[in-house]
Amino acid sequence: MSATDKTALTHPLTHSIAPDRAPLDFAGYQSVGGYTGLKKVLAGIAPTEVQAQVKEANLRGRGGAGFPTGVKWSFVPMGEDAPPLKYIVCNADEMEPGTFKDRLLMEAAPHQLVEGMIVSGYAIGASTGYIFLRGEYVLAARHLRAAIAEAREAGYIGNNIGGSGWDFDLHVHTGAGRYICGEETALLNSLEGRRANPRAKPPFPQVAGLWGRPTVVNNVETICNVPHIIAHGADWFRGLSQGKSEDGGTKLYGVSGKVKHPGVWELPIGSSGREILELAGGMKDGYQLKAWLPGGASTDFLLPEHLDVPMDYGSIGKAGSRLGTGLMTVLDDQASLLGTLVNLEIFFARESCGWCTPCRDGLPWTVKILQALESGEGEPGDIEMLESMTSDLWMGKTFCAHAPGAMEPLQSAIKFFRPEFEAGIRAAGRSDHGRGDSDVR
Ligand code: NAI
Repeated sequence: MSATDKTALTHPLTHSIAPDRAPLDFAGYQSVGGYTGLKKVLAGIAPTEVQAQVKEANLRGRGGAGFPTGVKWSFVPMGEDAPPLKYIVCNADEMEPGTFKDRLLMEAAPHQLVEGMIVSGYAIGASTGYIFLRGEYVLAARHLRAAIAEAREAGYIGNNIGGSGWDFDLHVHTGAGRYICGEETALLNSLEGRRANPRAKPPFPQVAGLWGRPTVVNNVETICNVPHIIAHGADWFRGLSQGKSEDGGTKLYGVSGKVKHPGVWELPIGSSGREILELAGGMKDGYQLKAWLPGGASTDFLLPEHLDVPMDYGSIGKAGSRLGTGLMTVLDDQASLLGTLVNLEIFFARESCGWCTPCRDGLPWTVKILQALESGEGEPGDIEMLESMTSDLWMGKTFCAHAPGAMEPLQSAIKFFRPEFEAGIRAAGRSDHGRGDSDVR
């Protein structure tokens, strides 16, 4: 397959994935057009011009927040007065429940991420890159380290790369398995060997990040898009959305839950939930779709009536949720909604770093109330208490987006399925759930 054939043009992220999903080595990656973007850059594109092309391509961050990548890069100090040390960091700590897209990219096409890190590092004038990888992704770590060694051997990592006068080193750092390490400033603390608490923003990492130096943190899928933008151009990249979205490119979408074939597919950004569900073969026999999370546990539930909404940042936002990671989780008609929420909120409560009070104490309290409702032991006022949690654990009242993310599925569940909460309230009298002392930590 060549980099100019139809598949390569329409599915840039996955065209270098071998059918048997064995990782492509350096030669194999080059044979499908790999390192074309980097060679083009080294042939004489200025770093600020690389930034401009990525901005024009309208690539938005694929980690979940959708911040425009070129804009993020443009905050990094450039020029002669810029600090001599700058860092590019890849957030590969993929731990969002129901999300397994970056793993596919790293296991099957490690050179694509390596090339993306080198080009992105060049664009911001970084001296060093770190791939902060989820510790459980053992295979990805092995494949990435092998790809880095091959790229170093080829002269794409090291001193005076391609005669450009630019030096760049790249490392894989494996995390120890905390969800909060995916929050970019907690990630930077962890990389520095500190406890993984989020830092106050501003200053944003682009100005003061790793060891206080300018640092860009981008998601795996985001960085994998960069070499293709440089190789084929911003117009080509924007056109990949095939008019389905104003955002540029393709997106890795997927679905898990009671569907026939859970999986990940690369589609034009703006494809709909219905298209993704059809690729998964629809719901399993005997199950009906009741609700769905569009992009991980920290997004609001949507209903079957939202299945035709384009899965892009703006459209899903208007429908009342967030695109998040773009990996759908379906809730079927036979699953317990309250049981699902208990499960999710236990996860969030356990993964709270404990740094701020609303998150540390509010999440276990939320779990207690939900557990009481699930077992039919809820009290009058519990639903109102949960509603007040969804505003007290919200942005501006917590240090980072962890607790607000935990409130998204809860607030939408109350909005759409309030009778199921009401059914969990005891008919008469009060019960003592021991709510003051939570054991969910
Ligand atoms: P955010 O919106 O605060 O920031 C997103 C990015 O844009 C960051 O890199 C930040 O530095 C930059 N940014 C935002 N405002 C800026 C400004 N005014 N100036 C300069 N830069 C700015 O979102 P956050 O907290 O970084 O990420 C939350 C998202 O992470 C959620 O949407 C969630 O879906 C996703 N997530 C993904 C996980 C995964 O495994 N992929 C795990 C957990 C959460």
